[in-house]
Amino acid sequence: MDYFGRDVSRKRTEPSLYYKKLYDTWLVVGWASSILDEPVAVQLLEQRLVVWRDADGQVHGAYDQCPHRGTQLSLGTVDDSGCITCPYHGWAFATDGQCVSIPQMAIDTAIPKRVHLDMVGCVEKYGMIWVCLGHPIDEIPEFSVYKDSDMRHVECAPYTWNCSPERMVENFMDFGHLGYLHDGLLGSRDDLEVPAHKVITNGNQMTCELTMSVPSTNDSFGVTRLQGDRGKQTNSYIVSAPYTIYLESRYHDSGSARFLYFSVQPLSMEKCIGYCYQSRDFDLDAPDEPFAEFQLVLAEQDRPIVESQFPIEAPLVLTDEVHLPFDKVAISYRRLLKDYFS
Ligand code: FES
Ligand code: FE
Repeated sequence: MDYFGRDVSRKRTEPSLYYKKLYDTWLVVGWASSILDEPVAVQLLEQRLVVWRDADGQVHGAYDQCPHRGTQLSLGTVDDSGCITCPYHGWAFATDGQCVSIPQMAIDTAIPKRVHLDMVGCVEKYGMIWVCLGHPIDEIPEFSVYKDSDMRHVECAPYTWNCSPERMVENFMDFGHLGYLHDGLLGSRDDLEVPAHKVITNGNQMTCELTMSVPSTNDSFGVTRLQGDRGKQTNSYIVSAPYTIYLESRYHDSGSARFLYFSVQPLSMEKCIGYCYQSRDFDLDAPDEPFAEFQLVLAEQDRPIVESQFPIEAPLVLTDEVHLPFDKVAISYRRLLKDYFS
């Protein structure tokens, strides 16, 4: 069935069991700002999709495959009424997917009902486009400070990595690597002990708070608000299964904070794109570029490491890798995923 309950069994192979839960989940597929007046091709869970925006600004999504000859509709156009037109023979489809124009037929010929696109759920929220291939079982995870007018907001560049989505998410909250891999940026090699912290899991979410020492980056990026060379920072995480993290980083010296909303688009289980939206309550008149660049520098340090991890999918059987007490977040996240997919 497609999003409107129509039979779409004529094509595509059945999703793997592993994907079935993800089919019923809202997953990010791009920045809302990237969907303008042209249709855009996106990939999710190995499926080719097209996303477009109608004249009222509403977004729509469908499998990127014309029912006539399988042409990619993302190569076509969108007209003033929001219809998407195939570039091959010019058939036009309304925003509910129904075909409304076949220029090769006589004008008074009825268009069969079975000529329609296979629609998917598609919404815009928190500056991102979200797609659900099946029927959503959860809400899109909350981002409470989105567009808060007392803050400054930055869309960071998307990160495309050859890794599984859960490895990318887990890396974002792996405390043990912060001072080692990101020495001088998120921690220091002379201070690698992971402070005590608790992880609380509740349903499809887990929360964690950790206070740690961080180096000042004022000279290079200006993203931390510390008075000396080092200062304390408290990180509070809310992780929503399967692939979204909301992080508040508060600096003790100034009381100011950065808020990161990070969500991952699984192109497949071996390739993904991470989107990071960053809000700050300080330096409201400062340029945004250093804030986005800081995240990119960190991501480029992480990428080759995470892409090297094997097996590509993070084992959900905990004995398959070595976990120590300071890996509490990874342990909890894998349990969260195991529950989610079971
Ligand atoms: Fe799309 Fe013919 S292939 S109209
Ligand atoms: Fe990292």
